Amino acid sequence: MSLTETQQRAWQSLCCAINQAAMGSVVDALEHNGVWHALRAADGPIPLAVLAERHHTHAGLLACVGRWFEVLGWGGVSAEGLELTTPNTITAAQGRSALNALVALARLAEQGAVQRLAAGCGITEQIWRQVLQQLAPLGWVTESTKGFALNQTGRAGMPMAAQSIYVAGYAPLLSGLRDVFAIHAHRKPGFDASGDEWHVERAADIAFSAVVYETHCHNAVCELVMEAMHIAPNRPQAIVDTGAGNGALLLGLHSAFVKAGHTPPRLVAVEPSAPARRLCQTRLDPIGGLVLPGDINHPEAIALALKEHDIEMQDCLHVSKSVMHNRAVLGQPDELDDAVVHSSCAVHLNQAFEQLTAGQMGADLVAAFQRWLPWVQRHGWVMLEPHAIDPVLLGKNLDSHPLLATDITHTLSGQHLVEQAFHRRCAELAGLSTVSIKDLQQDLLGVPLMSADLMIGAMVSGSKI
Ligand SMILES: C[S@@+](CC[C@H](N)C(=O)[O-])C[C@H]1O[C@@H](n2cnc3c(N)ncnc32)[C@H](O)[C@@H]1O
Repeated sequence: MSLTETQQRAWQSLCCAINQAAMGSVVDALEHNGVWHALRAADGPIPLAVLAERHHTHAGLLACVGRWFEVLGWGGVSAEGLELTTPNTITAAQGRSALNALVALARLAEQGAVQRLAAGCGITEQIWRQVLQQLAPLGWVTESTKGFALNQTGRAGMPMAAQSIYVAGYAPLLSGLRDVFAIHAHRKPGFDASGDEWHVERAADIAFSAVVYETHCHNAVCELVMEAMHIAPNRPQAIVDTGAGNGALLLGLHSAFVKAGHTPPRLVAVEPSAPARRLCQTRLDPIGGLVLPGDINHPEAIALALKEHDIEMQDCLHVSKSVMHNRAVLGQPDELDDAVVHSSCAVHLNQAFEQLTAGQMGADLVAAFQRWLPWVQRHGWVMLEPHAIDPVLLGKNLDSHPLLATDITHTLSGQHLVEQAFHRRCAELAGLSTVSIKDLQQDLLGVPLMSADLMIGAMVSGSKI
């Protein structure tokens, strides 16, 4: 669908605000710890280790900062160190007001006000006037004697408002970056013992993921799942979605089975996040779905939890979307020697924000896939994953996509995006054979942002359960 000029203007200002909110927060953290001043005063690159030691920050995060500088055309990182080559950057203040604007916009989207606002409903404008005022940094409102009201760009932008929910979900992280960058603050993103997280509004994050699922992934998932239903002579005992979020994928599958006139198999959501489990339980209750705690890194523990409900893990069809890169990197992985993995352009970090080689990240991913091998030999595994994008491509037309912000939030919340070829190669090296693959979301940059793969665990002699 081609956009009108006004819609294009609205989309660009939205993408620009999203990238500003993320990068402006990084600039704020670097100003706070002194790295920004040191880079401004230097007339060449400063070694990462020197910057990290002097300013009590993580060298690994500075390597990522260098990559974001490259994307933005602000300088970059080389063997000599980190360099900032331009005085014209996003400021910390711009980042803060962009983030406020996006949080306000997300509120409008979550409260269901955007359709009426897009249609120019005066009463809705009046109700939301104070929130609309915060959209000023987007250029979507105009001030009159009556206060702030949406202008033409703002009205055209309202149907795109859901895009803000992703960054608004990461507002706690972006507002807390000074501590994330500070080596002694020990404030790492992650789950606490009760399954809560400080760094992300999980309900917002999974609501956004569900929109992506419904818009870009549902058809592919249905096709792959229907194909998987015919891999084995018997039906799977259940479909298990690990990292199920708010259950959108399972609900979508349930409707697809019913629509096709088939009885859906039992549906099971596995989730480490306590708020996600609560939400999922409410949504899956009407269709008899089961919700269990679990971690994609520990499939054997998921198997035990399923067994308590008389479900055999190896008799299930497994699915997961946007979860593998959420796993924690375990320990100090050995180096994997593989040409595809070594060609990675991404900066790889472990949970402590220490830099890993591509080979080490590859070894961790292969091991994570291998732990699943025994459980996906009968009915397979439908896996959807977003991917790291080539920084050169990311830097082109920066105001036409929000993917710099996606990269920043993933990295700073300890998620490990890898390139599509890297991901598929690691699955193959782990012993997973591909039955069917699909490339998704190619419209934004001309390359797939996500892959949807139906894989099956190869039978290694003696490995079948
Ligand atoms: C981006 S959301 C995707 C949600 C859902 N699959 C979807 O696509 O709509 C990532 C989900 O993975 C969950 N998650 C995070 N770390 C995980 C882990 N180690 N194992 C399983 N799930 C995890 C999060 O709680 C969250 O619900």
